[in-house]
Amino acid sequence: MNHHQACVQATQNPEQFWGEAASAVDWYQPWERVLDDRQPPFYRWFSGAQLNTCYNAVDRHVDQGRGEQTAILYDSPVTGTKQRISYAELQDQVARCAGLLRDLGVVKGDRVILYMPMVPETAIGMLACARLGAVHSVVFGGFSSRELASRIEDAKPKVILASSCGIEPSRTLAYKPLLDAAIEASPHKPEHCVILQREQLRAELLPERDLDWAQAAAQASPAECVPVAATDPLYILYTSGTTGMPKGVVRDNGGHAVALLWSMKHVYGVEPGEVFWAASDVGWVVGHSYIVYAPLLNGNTTVIYEGKPVGTPDAGAFWRVIEEYGVSVLFTAPTAFRAIKRDDPKAEHLQRYRLDNFRALFLAGERCDPNTLEWAQDKLGVPVVDHWWQTETGWAIAANCLGLEPLPIKPGSPTKPVPGYDVQVLDDEGEPVTPGTVGRIMIRLPLPPGCLPTLWGNDERFVQSYLAAQPGYYLSGDAGYFDDDGYLFVMSRIDDIINVAGHRLSTGAMEGVLANHPAVAECAVIGVADTLKGELPLGLVVLKAGIDTTPATLEAELIALVRDQIGPVAAFKHVIIVERLPKTRSGKILRGTMKSLADGTPYRLPATIDDPAILGEIEQALQASGYAHSTPG
Ligand code: COA
Ligand code: AMP
Repeated sequence: MNHHQACVQATQNPEQFWGEAASAVDWYQPWERVLDDRQPPFYRWFSGAQLNTCYNAVDRHVDQGRGEQTAILYDSPVTGTKQRISYAELQDQVARCAGLLRDLGVVKGDRVILYMPMVPETAIGMLACARLGAVHSVVFGGFSSRELASRIEDAKPKVILASSCGIEPSRTLAYKPLLDAAIEASPHKPEHCVILQREQLRAELLPERDLDWAQAAAQASPAECVPVAATDPLYILYTSGTTGMPKGVVRDNGGHAVALLWSMKHVYGVEPGEVFWAASDVGWVVGHSYIVYAPLLNGNTTVIYEGKPVGTPDAGAFWRVIEEYGVSVLFTAPTAFRAIKRDDPKAEHLQRYRLDNFRALFLAGERCDPNTLEWAQDKLGVPVVDHWWQTETGWAIAANCLGLEPLPIKPGSPTKPVPGYDVQVLDDEGEPVTPGTVGRIMIRLPLPPGCLPTLWGNDERFVQSYLAAQPGYYLSGDAGYFDDDGYLFVMSRIDDIINVAGHRLSTGAMEGVLANHPAVAECAVIGVADTLKGELPLGLVVLKAGIDTTPATLEAELIALVRDQIGPVAAFKHVIIVERLPKTRSGKILRGTMKSLADGTPYRLPATIDDPAILGEIEQALQASGYAHSTPG
């Protein structure tokens, strides 16, 4: 079957297409309906069926003779540690961790938050939750205590699994004080915290609340897999929304397992037994889907890499891992390759390694600029596939499916919609636009298996955020166009989301933090093009009258505030003080126009602008800070 045929089948007869794909999963009980469309716009996949995701990802491989195969390779240049965990060992460790959670009273449907770095225990904790039918929610280590608190408040976990520390190349971060402060700040308190004591920085445990992970797991008896409904939640992953509280994207069990298994074979072209490496973080969706669940569901060996593409120790780190473990397919963000290219433009480190097994590089998380794609293709001599997806979908919406018949690559495009996604580009009135015309990228409902069925505890926000803009369609939040050959080009967001080093952040949330500073009368945060990270946030602030401060002091205070309230991952490092902000006559700040000024890209003077002279002032201020001439590298 080629890409086109698969698309036709999946669109015309989704029940047959996904029903057949579902045979790759082991079910305790078959479904009554493949697609349950009785309550539109809420669609459910495989309703009536029962399975256990952990059984499918771990136990069944042991049952089927893969017990000795390596399931997880842990490679940590920041601690100088390497570890291999076989499927049989993984089964034992996951079952014990599940036993420890069970002994703490965790049952099907309870929530467990994980605040963990890139160590095998993170995957073990996630799988242990899945084993019990508990719902995990992993919080990325680069988020602040306040962000953690908001997730604790929303998910209401019974237990939190956390590490004593995370390790960045430049510093060791104590997680425990952040965790304690988050619990203090949240109205909901977990009953227990299970702390992984890392030797680099051990944490103080509270006797009545905290347990030592290793000790408790050693004492626990293994827990068996609990059958859950295909439609039961497997996890919640919070992602930046346009305003306020992050959105709790829900993933179900059944559709997720089916979609990820299908994707391993057909999108990535990976067979069981091969080594698959997603160089991301378990705290992001890429980590959930392609470090933990998909490779393990497919019987692959997955790599948990606690390091960076550069500096740990050099720009040859990725090649070293690929050679050492015989990686077949690598998945990472374009920013990682921009970092490698910056440090080693001629890819001289590559000469030291033999990448015999290496077949393909997949990139996602942000738009891949053609220069980076072509550099990677040229240096590696393998197909480099840009593919487009979101936390909400959990797997690729558009890709060059290497397991189907691969299509010619067009740099700048994630190729074509993946079978199952009926992608349309519509104008503001909901009409399809002609090829070459930019519009809102939408997906006709139902979304395929694996995509979010709703937001945690908030059906209404789910509908308002994604389905209300155009009845019958999912609003992706991205703008782009199809070319004459049906290739999709994803160009920009239509909301306040920016992508910083492949990390999804809300400028609205940063504005909320800046606005709380006593000196700030008004502010705007825009994402400015950056040659390494794709985009970087820039704050423009107007001071209240009579404020006595220096620009440097204020900048330092605002940077510290964002770091404290959102986290270092926001990479918020620049503030410019301006007299006024440009607005429309109705008072809307013209962020898009300021972004164009900062990027030095052409812009159209908005017809509704209140005072065009302000744009000149902003341009001057930006140029004085060296901003207006940045171009993608
Ligand atoms: N825990 C705590 N802090 C973290 C963190 C974590 N898990 N991850 C990042 N941070 C901190 C960093 O230490 C840095 O802090 P600093 O401002 O004190 O230096 C800040 O957050 C920004 O981190 P990052 O964006 O990673 O920048 P960097 O300069 O350290 O590294 C790259 C730049 C390009 C090498 C890095 O972003 C990278 O490897 N990107 C790969 C992309 C990726 O994995 N994307 C995920 C989606 S696929
Ligand atoms: P996240 O939810 O963190 O995965 O971020 C999703 C957003 O990242 C998308 O909505 C896009 O804006 C952007 N994105 C991800 N992959 C790509 C890609 N291949 N091309 C363009 N944008 C992308």
